[in-house]
Amino acid sequence: MTAFIGPDRPSDCVASLAGECHSDGGLRGHILLACGVPIIKRQLKYKLRLEPKNPDFRYPGYSSHPSYFMNRIVSPPISRRKFLRRTAVAAVATAVYAVGVEPRWVSVERSQLPVPNLPDSLAGKIAVQISDLHIGSRVGDDYLKAQFDYIKSLSPDFVFFTGDFLDSPSDWHMRKAEPFLKEFPRGSIGTACVLGNHDFGCQQSELTQYANNSRQLVDLFERADLNLLLDQSIDLGGLHVAGLRDFWFGGFDRESAALAIESLASLPSIVLSHNPDTVDLPIWDNYQSWVLCGHTHGGQCTFPLVGAPVIPVANKRYVSGSYDIQGGHKLYISRGIGHTHRVRFMARPEITIFDLAVG
Ligand SMILES: [Fe+2]
Repeated sequence: MTAFIGPDRPSDCVASLAGECHSDGGLRGHILLACGVPIIKRQLKYKLRLEPKNPDFRYPGYSSHPSYFMNRIVSPPISRRKFLRRTAVAAVATAVYAVGVEPRWVSVERSQLPVPNLPDSLAGKIAVQISDLHIGSRVGDDYLKAQFDYIKSLSPDFVFFTGDFLDSPSDWHMRKAEPFLKEFPRGSIGTACVLGNHDFGCQQSELTQYANNSRQLVDLFERADLNLLLDQSIDLGGLHVAGLRDFWFGGFDRESAALAIESLASLPSIVLSHNPDTVDLPIWDNYQSWVLCGHTHGGQCTFPLVGAPVIPVANKRYVSGSYDIQGGHKLYISRGIGHTHRVRFMARPEITIFDLAVG
């Protein structure tokens, strides 16, 4: 049995076949152009029209051209029917993957989190961020509990939760909330949480309808001793953590948020804020450490070259991962564990492990 072993990217493949495999972009561009134009011509001739009248037809000198070898590898001649059938199979396979596989295929992201003025005693401690559980009918209970078990197996020193605990605070969802809070993973040194927009309602009209349930949810967090922070800060064994109210539906108030951030002064600190748009507000003064966020779900579906077409933030730059923000503070956006609609593509659910370091 033989296997094709080659470069990861088609462009590398072209360069290798042409005997060039270095990072000279100009040369690679010429090679791609030389190979690409005849390939495109051939696609137009054979695929976008009906089958060739004479399948044995070849351009003069065709077999000596690099595109001949490329075509043999990446696109042997096929009929229009086969082309359409393969396209349909690929579309169905992508849909099955995006609905059936990726929404439950959790990616564990691990990176260092350098915190200014962190005491040496906290360097190397593990902080786990979980976000956007969206407990409800669209995210499986067993799936979420399996993630809780995994996080507990890490024996984290800190656990930070960045909002959207429930998919909606309806009566049905509230009945599910308390058992989940009992099983929520906790850090051996401390745990801190903020709420997200879905903890108050899926849309503006639900805010009044479920206002009482949202208040009950706050009580449940407090009774579960999970340190729910509403424009407040807390000292967790020398690491000071502030949490902001949700920017959309949580009664966000700039002055109150600025006071919570100001209380951190030059202390070793982290801020939790569900919505990453808060990092662009003029409330950060001289804050130089990290702001951990969720909310975007990494766009849930992203595409090469296009990125994430739907992203619920004003600053469309904020999709997932880490960002340096003008002013000195730093942002990390988790893609979250759950979802609103069960579809993810190139935006796998995420559990984030941070190794605290002296910044
Ligand atoms: Fe969310």
